[in-house]
Amino acid sequence: MAQQDDVFKKIVSHAKEYGFVFPSSDIYDGLSAVYDYGQNGVELKNNIKRYWWDAMTLLHENIVGIDSAIFMHPTIWKASGHVDAFNDPLIDNRDSKKRYRADVLIEDELAKFDEKIEKEVAKARKRFGESFDEALFRQTNPRVVEIAQKRDALHERFAKAMNDNNLEELRQIIIDQEIVDPISGTRNWTDVRQFNLMFKTEMGSTADGAMTVYLRPETAQGIFVNYLNVQKTGRMKIPFGIAQIGKAFRNEIVARQFIFRMREFEQMEMQFFVRPGSELEWFKRWKEIRLRWHKALGLGDEKYRYHDHDKLAHYANAATDIEFEMPFGFKEVEGIHSRTNFDLSQHEKYSGKNIKYFDPELGENYVPYVIETSIGVDRMFLSVLCSSYQEQKLENGETRVVLNLPAPLAPVKCAVMPLVRKDGLPEKAREIVNDLKFDFATHYDEKDSIGKRYRRQDAIGTPFCITVDHQTLDDNTVTLRRRDTMEQTRVNIADLHRLIHDEVSINTLLRKLA
Ligand code: GAP
Repeated sequence: MAQQDDVFKKIVSHAKEYGFVFPSSDIYDGLSAVYDYGQNGVELKNNIKRYWWDAMTLLHENIVGIDSAIFMHPTIWKASGHVDAFNDPLIDNRDSKKRYRADVLIEDELAKFDEKIEKEVAKARKRFGESFDEALFRQTNPRVVEIAQKRDALHERFAKAMNDNNLEELRQIIIDQEIVDPISGTRNWTDVRQFNLMFKTEMGSTADGAMTVYLRPETAQGIFVNYLNVQKTGRMKIPFGIAQIGKAFRNEIVARQFIFRMREFEQMEMQFFVRPGSELEWFKRWKEIRLRWHKALGLGDEKYRYHDHDKLAHYANAATDIEFEMPFGFKEVEGIHSRTNFDLSQHEKYSGKNIKYFDPELGENYVPYVIETSIGVDRMFLSVLCSSYQEQKLENGETRVVLNLPAPLAPVKCAVMPLVRKDGLPEKAREIVNDLKFDFATHYDEKDSIGKRYRRQDAIGTPFCITVDHQTLDDNTVTLRRRDTMEQTRVNIADLHRLIHDEVSINTLLRKLA
């Protein structure tokens, strides 16, 4: 675990050093859980968004996009349940004066049981070598079985307390498990209280009668309240979907793990409107479609898993997370929820407007059911960054740090480098840049030795480097170096476009989904 923490720290500092992610308001020592994306970060983020947007709106003829405002009528949040129920259970430690999420303290405790089991398994694997039957060991080893039983009992108690909204029981679990504050080391806990996560602000001047509005905690409600507009103006027939990418804001209490849990973040959400009764079938379908989207990036199929929710949100009748193996364990990157007709019915009730859909095939009016896919751009960014970061020992003894980013997501697709800064090589290199730049994010780099320039591009994940040398002037060929293998081949300038395009285009990813 300590080793994983080290890797994660390196990734965070790499992200800053190479212009991916900076703490917000850095020269003022930052603002907790708020981050800025730098020159490379914004490109990587835009590519992730493009991949998602195109997968939704180009590959599904019944999905269209919108871009709704962040400020919305405050009654929307009353109708959706966020004013009353978008809470986290908080607990304070009286000695450290620090505030924690009670559920997170218990989840961390649950994770410790898993860590203990993994340690036992690792020890046994070492002891038994080739003949080790891991599945059998997990089922029969008395120590492992005992730990697993304790974990399951705690899990059951925790899930029930969360489902019942039983704050006293959550506190009692913390006491019974002897969970200590990581800072003070004491068990001097307050009661557990609910804390609403929405940011509030005022719209209009006080003299006019200012109105309290909220920064949206999810983009989904902007889709729900536009459902009728889109359905009517787009003549959409059920089933159909509406996709949106945009900022969301939550006053997270436990903000940690870099961009994993932020107070201002970005979501890519799609609400898919279906006939009542067909929602669980669509839920299953969207679970598969979304996992395929993730896996097409080639970050490693074993890094993903589904996690079905124990505690369903107030609006859902089924929910699962797609989790990704981060350096700090498997964590939620995307949620897929069967939201029933809760939101639309609530908006119908609170707005007084009829938002029923007339189904011409059934000859019936109904409020559609909704399957939602909701993915955090920043978490997706983090999963791509973490799985791409590598420190490689080279044959010459040097270490190279490389980001093996999926080429279509890389911020820079190719870097063009004159071997020396004379003899007409820079001019020839610029000629190539001026041709490629219309299709690919292309860098020109002439500073430092060629080795150092390669390393710089490796560190930001550039899939191709093109080196112009004296031979280029004679025969119009260049050296094409590939990031992952470091293999160098001599190719004709006229072939560059095709060679690069086939690997870096988002279409290459999209075709895997078709
Ligand atoms: N509309 C449903 C919804 O918002 P959610 O599970 O609360 O569901 C969806 O959030 C996704 O948004 C999560 O899977 C995660 O990727 C991202 N997300 C949620 N809170 C976040 C935070 N504080 N920082 C970064 N990403 C967050």
